[in-house]
Amino acid sequence: MKAIRFHEYGGPGVLRLDEVDLPTPDAGQVRVRVAATSFNGVDGNIRAGRMQGPMPMDLPHVPGLDVAGVVDALGEGVDTLRAGDAVIGFLPFGDDGATAEYVVVAADGLAPAPTTIPLGDAAALPVVGLTAWQALFEHADLRAGQRILVNGASGAVGGYAVQLAKAAGAHVIATAGPRTRGRVEKQGADVVIDHTAEDLPAAIHEPVDVLLNLAPITPEQLTALVAVVADGGVIVNTTVWMPAPSDEARGVRGIDLFVRSDATQLAGLAERVDRGELTVDIAERVPMTDLASVHARAERGALDGKVIVLPA
Ligand SMILES: NC(=O)c1ccc[n+]([C@@H]2O[C@H](COP(=O)([O-])OP(=O)(O)OC[C@H]3O[C@@H](n4cnc5c(N)ncnc54)[C@H](OP(=O)(O)O)[C@@H]3O)[C@@H](O)[C@H]2O)c1
Repeated sequence: MKAIRFHEYGGPGVLRLDEVDLPTPDAGQVRVRVAATSFNGVDGNIRAGRMQGPMPMDLPHVPGLDVAGVVDALGEGVDTLRAGDAVIGFLPFGDDGATAEYVVVAADGLAPAPTTIPLGDAAALPVVGLTAWQALFEHADLRAGQRILVNGASGAVGGYAVQLAKAAGAHVIATAGPRTRGRVEKQGADVVIDHTAEDLPAAIHEPVDVLLNLAPITPEQLTALVAVVADGGVIVNTTVWMPAPSDEARGVRGIDLFVRSDATQLAGLAERVDRGELTVDIAERVPMTDLASVHARAERGALDGKVIVLPA
């Protein structure tokens, strides 16, 4: 089968198309015929070798943490899935990923794919959808009536976070640039602050219960946002190269989020998509042979929204 792999860490040019053996599922695993994977920001750091500490892996490595596809072969003992089932999943860090025609995955890591959107588009859901869900409901314990500030709401995680927070009955304040404001409003934000034109702490007139930071701001900018969080509130930060600040005296907790795979949560997100409660936004669909150029554009800050990567 064909797969994109890197044999050494480096720039986008290390990503190359290889012919590799069709993988065979071990006990408890299935082989998935890949409909698509997606590009996540962390993929560039993995390829560049910046994640070798937390995510050790053998080279060559197939990137692609998200998968959407169809079960193609079953390993011994798998009785929860059948050949032909459409599935989605968040693949373990370090294992070969889904920028390939086929990938083997633990059966219990997969969830049924949504049925109301194209299967490949569902690859836009696992990593970023789970990040949004876990931030809001595992870490921040967001409840109806609370106020939340989503900083970086125009991105892939932010799009789901705004929709899920609104559906939970929260008052959602979001940041976006002039280009992405309309999308964030459509996703349900009650207030949108233009982060390119307004001073963020000053633009928040009433404290928020939850601050979800998704934006690549400086540690000083993140620390300045502690002031807008109410006593007893929580800051959840996904840009974990800087620690989440806190304010013990006021009971404001800071949480560094590390997303994890959870097939039950993922199935719940897919059901929300099928009920029309969660929209999956796709910016581009590209063949996997274009992956190096997607990585290069990401490094230049020239990607706008979620990119789906197809095996063809
Ligand atoms: N720790 C974890 O487990 C985990 C999991 C998933 C993601 N992440 C990280 O979380 C972050 C968000 O992920 P993502 O996939 O949503 O990334 P993304 O699509 O690149 O979104 C980030 C957004 O931040 C906005 N932004 C840039 N500068 C800003 C500023 N100064 N103020 C406010 N917003 C600003 C950008 O919007 P505009 O430039 O268009 O305004 C962009 O849409 C990334 O850093 C990602 O690596 C971490």
